[in-house]
Amino acid sequence: MDLSQRERESIMAKKLRIGVIFGGRSGEHEVSVRSARSVIEAIDKSKYEVVPIAITKEGNWLAPAAAAELLPAETQRKLSVAALGKSRDDVAIVGDPSRQSLMTLGDQSWEQTLDVVFPVLHGTYGEDGTLQGLLEMASIPFVGCGTLASSCGMDKVTMKALFKEANLPICRHAWLLRSEWDDDQAKVLRRIRKAIGFPCFVKPANLGSSVGVSKATDKSSLVKAIDLAARYDRKIMVEELVDGREIECGVIGNDEPRASLPGEYVIHDETARFLDYTEKYSGTGNNEFIVPARISKSTIKQIQKMAAIAYKAIDASGLSRVDFFLKPDGELLVNEINTLPGLTDVSGFPKMWEATGIPFTKVIDQLVQFAIQRHRERARNETSI
Ligand SMILES: Nc1ncnc2c1ncn2[C@@H]1O[C@H](COP(=O)(O)OP(=O)(O)O)[C@@H](O)[C@H]1O
Ligand SMILES: [Mg+2]
Repeated sequence: MDLSQRERESIMAKKLRIGVIFGGRSGEHEVSVRSARSVIEAIDKSKYEVVPIAITKEGNWLAPAAAAELLPAETQRKLSVAALGKSRDDVAIVGDPSRQSLMTLGDQSWEQTLDVVFPVLHGTYGEDGTLQGLLEMASIPFVGCGTLASSCGMDKVTMKALFKEANLPICRHAWLLRSEWDDDQAKVLRRIRKAIGFPCFVKPANLGSSVGVSKATDKSSLVKAIDLAARYDRKIMVEELVDGREIECGVIGNDEPRASLPGEYVIHDETARFLDYTEKYSGTGNNEFIVPARISKSTIKQIQKMAAIAYKAIDASGLSRVDFFLKPDGELLVNEINTLPGLTDVSGFPKMWEATGIPFTKVIDQLVQFAIQRHRERARNETSI
C-alpha cells in the first residue's frame, strides 16, 4: 500500500522519532553496537530524531541517556539532547497499543513516544522475532521483518524447508535435536554419515556470525563439532561441505522487493576454512568484500532473482541479506537469509546498496517508509468478526 501525497507530507512536516534499539542478549551484542553507530551516523537528521535504546547482555533496557554512552563520543554528539532525556532509570516498551512509547520503569515517570522503531539487533532476542512480537503487540511501526519472517529466517532448519518449498537450490543437509544426541550418539552418527557423509559442516540452527560452526572430516571431529554446536542450541544442522565462493545480495522492500548488486567475500589466505566471527567483522583480516562480485551479468541477474524468491519464501519485509555459494561449476546454492544483516562500516549490506546507487542514508529513509507502509497494511485487517 502506498502512502498518499498528503500522508507523506504530514509525516515529513515534523521530525519522526526513531527508537534505535541495539546491543541485545546475543553473542552478536558488539556487532550490533557497531551497526547502530553506522545507522545513527547515516540517518538523515533533518527528517529523523534518534532515540537510542540499548539492551544489555543481561537484557536490561537502558534509558536513552545511558544507552548513548555505549556509543563512541563522536556518535553521541550527533544525538539531540532533547531526545535523550535526563532519566537514567531502565526503560521498557509495553505491549499496550495505547502507549506506543518508551517508558521508564523507575519512579521518575518519563515517557517518550516513538513513531518508528529500528531494531538494530543481530541474533537471538532481536533478529529472531521475539522483539518483533513485542513491537507488533505495542502497535509501533518497526523496520525490518515481522515476527514470522524473523523467526523463520533465524532457524536454519525452517529456513531451508521454506527454501526447498520455493524450489531454491540448497545444499544437502540433515538436522538433529540435542536430546537425540544425548540419548544415542551412535544412532545419530550413523544417520548423519548415511545422509551427509564427510566432510561436513555443523552449525547450531539458531545462531549467526559463525558462532558454534565447525567442519568435520571424520567421526571424531563430527562428535566434537556436534558437541560444540549443542552448547548453543537444542537444534543442530549438519550440511555437506560446499566448496564455493561466498556471494551476498541485499534486498529491501515489502511486497515487491528489490535486490542490490551482489558482493563477494574474497579470502586472501586460502588456508582459512571459513569466515569466523572475528574475521567477518574485523574488516582488516585476510578477507575483503568486493562489490560488484566478479561474476557475469547473467549470474548477477540469477542471484538477484533467487534473492527475491528467498525473501518472499520467508515472507520477509523491510530488509534482508541473502547469502549464496557459487560452485566452481557455476552452480548457485542459497546458503541463508539474514533478516537483520550487519550494518557496520565494514558490512556488505550498506556497500552493496551504495554500489547499486542508493547511499546508506537513502536506504535507511526507505526502510522507515517501508516500516510505516507495512504497519498501515496490517492495520487494514479486520479484527472483529
Ligand atoms: N555447507 C557449508 N559448506 C562450506 N562452508 C560453509 C557451509 N555452511 C557454512 N559455511 C561457512 O560458514 C560460514 C557461516 O555459516 P552460515 O551458514 O552463514 O551461518 P551464520 O552466518 O548464521 O553463522 C559461512 O559464511 C561459510 O563461510
Ligand atoms: Mg552467514
